[in-house]
Amino acid sequence: MTTVRQAPAPGRAEIGRLYRTRLSKGRATLGELLGGELEAESRGAWVTTAAGRGLLNCSGYGVLLMGARHPTVVRHVIEQLHRNPVATRVLLEPQAALAADALVATVPNGLERVHFACSGAEAVETAIKIARTLGKDRLIATHGGYHGKTMGALSLTGKELFQEPFRPLLPSTSHVAYGDAAALEEQLAAASGRACVVIEPVQGEAGVVLPPPGHLRTVQELCRAHDALFVLDEIQTGLGRLGAWWGADLEGLTPDVLLTGKGLGGGVMPVSAVVATPAAFAAFDKDPYLHTSTFSGMPLAMAAVRGALTAIEEEDLVTRARDLGVQLLDGIGRIAREHFGDVVREVRGRGLLIGIEFAEPGPAGDLLVELIQQGVVANHSLNSHLVLRLTPPAVLSPSDVAFLFTAFDRACRAQAARYVPTLGGGASHAQH
Ligand SMILES: Cc1ncc(COP(=O)(O)O)c(C=O)c1O
Repeated sequence: MTTVRQAPAPGRAEIGRLYRTRLSKGRATLGELLGGELEAESRGAWVTTAAGRGLLNCSGYGVLLMGARHPTVVRHVIEQLHRNPVATRVLLEPQAALAADALVATVPNGLERVHFACSGAEAVETAIKIARTLGKDRLIATHGGYHGKTMGALSLTGKELFQEPFRPLLPSTSHVAYGDAAALEEQLAAASGRACVVIEPVQGEAGVVLPPPGHLRTVQELCRAHDALFVLDEIQTGLGRLGAWWGADLEGLTPDVLLTGKGLGGGVMPVSAVVATPAAFAAFDKDPYLHTSTFSGMPLAMAAVRGALTAIEEEDLVTRARDLGVQLLDGIGRIAREHFGDVVREVRGRGLLIGIEFAEPGPAGDLLVELIQQGVVANHSLNSHLVLRLTPPAVLSPSDVAFLFTAFDRACRAQAARYVPTLGGGASHAQH
């Protein structure tokens, strides 16, 4: 019998070269800055590097609520992979129907129709098109809000840095300060019944910005009063991330359209969804070819959705996210303030979406790098360089939490002297 010899896996230098020459020089450089390690495997809350080092994964931009390779999700996906991964799209296919039904069971009452897509931005595009079918062509979003980077979604993403190179974007789009009801009302009045408001329950990429209490309810009331379509972008906040199934539940909201993505595929498949009221969905209901894409609702992704929703339910991950969130916010906040004092502006969050905002640029990035050294992967915030973001999974064990606190404490200790004058630092501020 002949044995098949496997070629040795390419090492750091080779993968770095391929990134540089085949993917993106900038991404290669960033990877080097962050330590240059290769990720090889993941399981639960942990990711293992090619060198065999385990890192606690508090990153993934919110995708990994149930950790990596959750057995329930993997089981659903593997069964479907061996049965029918991609549909004919001519016949009716059960997985899509069952996944839609399972999703509808979790969302606020009145949201009954589902359109599946692959990315968050695609779900946002769908919402923009739904708005158009209703004559709502005046888009209102928020400064700092993040909705993706395709042309329509980018028009809503409230960050000049990302928008500027791609202008002109969608016309008739305006942004108001997050939490400013008066500014929103002004825009709604100017839109004369043609507005579509797109807003996040908590701004994730803006650096975990929480709305003033009751604000989202006011947004809903204003939308109703001005006959505007109310779209709640829960792509980052939904499915338990905030310690509730949906951010909508925290204020008893019933939006016309709710968007979900990220964790919807259980950390295994890329899938997003638009869940709408029958009234909002009327045009799509009538003509199934009005808005389509090849992989929308593919059975493999639908199996992942069913697995994800089952896992969240069976393991009560929503409650676990809420309880862990309280514990982490308290511990992380204490450690950050202990080392950084006033250099920390605020530690805030809801559930397992936690942001540490610094009073100056520098510490957020330095801590991100240092945390990897200490064994934890965190996130930066796309729309705020002042905020380090933690999006841990709801499957952290008590020893994972202890590991996180120890690593965070060490990372803060290692970096604080650069920013806190009484610790002998401060002079380095100018370098940032
Ligand atoms: C609230 C929100 N909406 C939309 C998106 C875009 O999703 P995607 O990157 O999958 O296109 C994101 C991604 O971070 C998000 O956080």
